[in-house]
Amino acid sequence: MCGIMAYVGDKDLNSVLMAGLWRLEYRGYDSSGVASIMDGELEVRKALGRLMVLQDILSDRPIGGGAGIGHTRWATHGEPSDQNAHPQVDCSGKIAVVHNGIIENHYSLKEELIKNKHIFQSNTDTEVIAHLIEENYNGDLKESVLKSVSKLRGSFAIAVIVSSEPDRIVIYREGSPLIVGLGNNESLAASDIPAIIDHTRRVIIMSDGELAVLRKDSVEFYDKEGKRIEKKEKEIKWSPTSLDKGEYAHYMLKEIYEQPEVIERNIALRIEDGEFNLGESFHFSPHDLAHLTDIVIQACGTSWHAGYIGKYLFEEFARIHTEVDISSEFRYRNPVMGGETLVIAVSQSGETADTLAGLREAKAKFLKVLSIVNVRGSTIARESESTVYINAGPEIGVASTKAYTSQILQLYLMALYLSKLRWALEASSIDEKLKGLIEIPKKMRTILNKADSIKQIAEKFKDSRDFMFIGRGINYPSALEGALKLKEISYIHATGYPAGEMKHGPIALIDKNSPVVAIATQSSVYEKMLSNIEEVRSRGARIISIATEGDKRIKDISDEVFYIPPCGENVSPILVALPLQLLAYYSAVLNKRDVDRPRNLAKSVTVE
Ligand code: F6R
Repeated sequence: MCGIMAYVGDKDLNSVLMAGLWRLEYRGYDSSGVASIMDGELEVRKALGRLMVLQDILSDRPIGGGAGIGHTRWATHGEPSDQNAHPQVDCSGKIAVVHNGIIENHYSLKEELIKNKHIFQSNTDTEVIAHLIEENYNGDLKESVLKSVSKLRGSFAIAVIVSSEPDRIVIYREGSPLIVGLGNNESLAASDIPAIIDHTRRVIIMSDGELAVLRKDSVEFYDKEGKRIEKKEKEIKWSPTSLDKGEYAHYMLKEIYEQPEVIERNIALRIEDGEFNLGESFHFSPHDLAHLTDIVIQACGTSWHAGYIGKYLFEEFARIHTEVDISSEFRYRNPVMGGETLVIAVSQSGETADTLAGLREAKAKFLKVLSIVNVRGSTIARESESTVYINAGPEIGVASTKAYTSQILQLYLMALYLSKLRWALEASSIDEKLKGLIEIPKKMRTILNKADSIKQIAEKFKDSRDFMFIGRGINYPSALEGALKLKEISYIHATGYPAGEMKHGPIALIDKNSPVVAIATQSSVYEKMLSNIEEVRSRGARIISIATEGDKRIKDISDEVFYIPPCGENVSPILVALPLQLLAYYSAVLNKRDVDRPRNLAKSVTVE
């Protein structure tokens, strides 16, 4: 994880680097730092804590010069501290490195470097890179970086400066994202596009094994052998205004409220005159997909929950056996998969290390690989044979909201598309389902207009410290997601469970006043859910039910009920997500948590 920002040009380094780091803060925020070359000397400022601390330091002691690098950190090796913050510096104090990723062989490299009299100041794997470059430095930073990275194992993106070459920054990518911005008499590099978009819309995406030398009036690209290469630039069309919070108190709240529009836009994009259009990056032909025997969905966290919902959809609509796996498990379990298996990677960021590794694992087995991704041009998207974009727009809040519901929508459409190819459902039934979708954005708005009643529920339960979320069928993954949302941003313990499993163990946790969030919308398992609610209620649980408007029975067995508009069972997870997101949001706000940047987390998990 971590965010890298680099700038060479005439603007004030303090403001350009800080503005970029603010935009990258979602990638990590336990410490930060910047470095530049001022009058031939390397200057470094570092701070433990949120970026505000670094900003205050820079107001007192600004850096200067023409080229600077910055970093916002999510600790992997070494606890968050001033010492372990990046930039990391070599023994001579002339070379500074910022790094995103992990150097797997740092231990053996460090031992060797110590034997060669290098003195280490931090507990990071990154410091090894600074000393290695020092060891290899021969007056040409590009050459010494190339020589050094050839010794590194792991996944990393780095930006390096040296005091004897003050007009340039050298960057290198191997497994962690890095983009270059081509400005007007200025050049930039960053871990993600939002960091540079205020300066330029001309962007080049680095691939693994590539190095770039940034000067203010030029950027040169090289492969790992040092051979010059040409790279294609692309123009970013989306607007930076979508990166602001606007009238909302938090990005998360803004992103929750954007969902009806995201779903509406995607329905319009994906269904044209009753025909499916899965987008320009969907390259599979009907022939490729008509004979699939299995689907394996692999993803992490919230994207895994969306994938889990996808399993129900593929099996129900397309009658294809579907497995869903957590990527960090999938990648190491040597799964048995045949030639007609489609492996789907679901990811908001498109950079999640485990999901990417799972995708590579599937490719190594010569399987068809599809990704469902939000960030265009991300590594997972680029390495997949086909990609269906989530089109949710930039998601800044660490907790995924709008990407999740749009992932479900894409899986829903994909399942209907496969159903059509395989004649699994009648054409009229597919049409009916597509018509039902059109109503969903309006229903989402109806739910959001009642956000206050969720806030009132959150107020009543704000001091509870253990929640249970239960659901069945396609809303079992919704229960998992509701629990994850709550715990990750409010730090209140929450567990999601299939309601039918409660009596096999977890019901022992229920005592007087235990809050249980029960997803009991109208469905084929509604009656079963009512029995499961009774089971926990009779043990004293306080029930918060998510039910369907018009349900007269639910309020008799619930302490609180939030009603969603009627909808088809298979599309209900999109609507159910909203009250669960709002419950998590208000619980976090009432507990005074940092909603957009919860502790210990980062938006893009580029380490395994
Ligand atoms: C939780 C959340 C995470 C991500 C997970 C995978 O709100 O956002 O659980 O879903 O880290 O990330 P992506 O989707 O970027 O692969």
